[in-house]
Amino acid sequence: MQSSRVLLPGKVSALSRLNRILKGPQYADAKYFILLDSNCFTHCLPTLVSRVEALQKAEFLELPEREECKDLEIASQVWQTLMESGADRNTVLVNLGGGCISDLGGFVAAGYKRGIRYINVPTTLIGMVDAAIGGKTAVNVGGVKNQVGFFYPPEVVCIEPSFLATLPDREVQSGWLEMLKVQLISGMPMDTNISEQTISDCVQFKMDVVKSDPKDHGIRRILNFGHTFGHAVEAYSHRLGHPLLHGEAVGVGMVCALFLSMHKLGLSETLYQQVRKVVSDHVMLPKYTLRDTETLLEYMRQDKKNENGEICCVLLQEFGVPVIDVAVPEVEIRDCFLKIAK
Ligand SMILES: NC(=O)c1ccc[n+]([C@@H]2O[C@H](COP(=O)([O-])OP(=O)(O)OC[C@H]3O[C@@H](n4cnc5c(N)ncnc54)[C@H](O)[C@@H]3O)[C@@H](O)[C@H]2O)c1
Ligand SMILES: [Zn+2]
Repeated sequence: MQSSRVLLPGKVSALSRLNRILKGPQYADAKYFILLDSNCFTHCLPTLVSRVEALQKAEFLELPEREECKDLEIASQVWQTLMESGADRNTVLVNLGGGCISDLGGFVAAGYKRGIRYINVPTTLIGMVDAAIGGKTAVNVGGVKNQVGFFYPPEVVCIEPSFLATLPDREVQSGWLEMLKVQLISGMPMDTNISEQTISDCVQFKMDVVKSDPKDHGIRRILNFGHTFGHAVEAYSHRLGHPLLHGEAVGVGMVCALFLSMHKLGLSETLYQQVRKVVSDHVMLPKYTLRDTETLLEYMRQDKKNENGEICCVLLQEFGVPVIDVAVPEVEIRDCFLKIAK
């Protein structure tokens, strides 16, 4: 899989470097379409077009917010709009937004005319440290997340942390929980700071992992730490009408994974308690009942990473030492859901 050019924050801003790149010969005939939602239209588009000259004449398409845009029907509407506007293989999509916009935009780019170029300009913390990097694109089908998608990397990713200035604090904190995930699996120091440096460290770590396993056959699975549980927690929170943000659900999921790691792999209780405390400063750990655990298990059984009917999780042997593909019996999963809030 061809890799992306990732513009990290630096002395010369990532936006200035994008401005320069788009003046290069490989973009001489490019026609740009910017995909975004209403918040990014208000808060991010003015900066983007004022700093990147090539985008001043871009057309833009406004999509519904959040998961609502990760939908086949929306993708189909975007393809239709592109066709009606005469978009050809020189068209470049620019995804300006969080992970939902980059997942949908990458999916659209992968399919249109069998693949056109695209650029991710993430505007959320999760977008910057995770979703915009690595070439996984997806739409949701039948209410189940990320069921259809392609590995199709963006040509350029522009990490411009100044976009975070308008991101609501709850979204920022949710993104920080994904950064905590990176710190736990990589062994880089646990740091609550959200700075250009800590963002760059997380981006670099993801790039290295993706480079060694672009299609998720092995080591890349460490990035799913907390996610097998987290996706179930997230989906269930929506069903209960008290939706958690993705990073918040992953935070709960990491506490579950660490609880199991303590019992199955001998992880130190001190680390478990330390992370549990940090996570519960960001999100209330849910007090699940036995009945809740039945529904949570149903969600977990749908996870793409399961094999032979067993639920497979990423656990942590010690700080910075993840173990992939640990098959965990359902009875132990139920037990940890019941115990994390105690
Ligand atoms: N492809 C991958 O590898 C990957 C990795 C992680 C997550 N994801 C996906 O990413 C999605 C979550 O992405 P997310 O957490 O970025 O949320 P999001 O894309 O839903 O954005 C969250 C909210 O922030 C608003 N927003 C975005 N930028 C803003 C800004 N600068 N100022 C003000 N408001 C702004 C958006 O309008 C939205 O309301 C999920 O669908 C998840 O599955 C994909
Ligand atoms: Zn995630």
